[in-house]
Amino acid sequence: SARVVVLISGTGSNMAALLEAAEDPEYGAAVVAVGSDRENAAGLELAEKAGVPVFAEPFRGRGERAAWNADLAARIASYHPDLVVSAGFMRILGREVIDVAPVVNLHPALLPSFPGAHAVRDALAHGVRVTGSTVHFVDEGVDTGPIIDQVAVRVEPGDDEASLHARIKAVESRLLVETVGRLAREGWRLEGRHVRPGAAGNERAEEN
Ligand code: GAR
Repeated sequence: SARVVVLISGTGSNMAALLEAAEDPEYGAAVVAVGSDRENAAGLELAEKAGVPVFAEPFRGRGERAAWNADLAARIASYHPDLVVSAGFMRILGREVIDVAPVVNLHPALLPSFPGAHAVRDALAHGVRVTGSTVHFVDEGVDTGPIIDQVAVRVEPGDDEASLHARIKAVESRLLVETVGRLAREGWRLEGRHVRPGAAGNERAEEN
């Protein structure tokens, strides 16, 4: 199986969906650790209860971003992942982390619309009728990397941020679980911004 490290900042419901899927040996990916930028993230306790190793690398403020990012990269690298999954991880990842292994991020909007930390609020404020969720590879920009897959969610007339986010969350965990499993089982290659199925690009996943 492909070795996956999951990064979270809060509840970890998408991480929990990945843990459940990864119990099936045919899934193709195993979660080898869950990490967070917050020591008290609820999802860490959930992962611990499921018997998965956890770690926290608390964010130390903007002035220490580079050092924090390097420490986070070292912690992740110690688990020798083939893939890193950012599932509700609310910090920007730097070059050192991306260099450890490819990073897949889950974002609650149809990128390239509404990048950043307030995607659901921003979509609502803009008045769009359709938004959704995106899984993409992380590059050095903020939510700018190659898109792997997306799912659409309609905005309903009475929606507020909480109700819309709840409907996005109801579909995005399946999007994430299906995408990570497919990447792990089938591999992928990048053609410019296009993510294609196929072998090249995850040679390390093939070794296991
Ligand atoms: C998810 O909706 C995810 O798409 C979003 O945070 C939520 C985490 O929920 N991510 C971002 O906003 C990233 N900018 P969870 O902790 O219950 O999985």
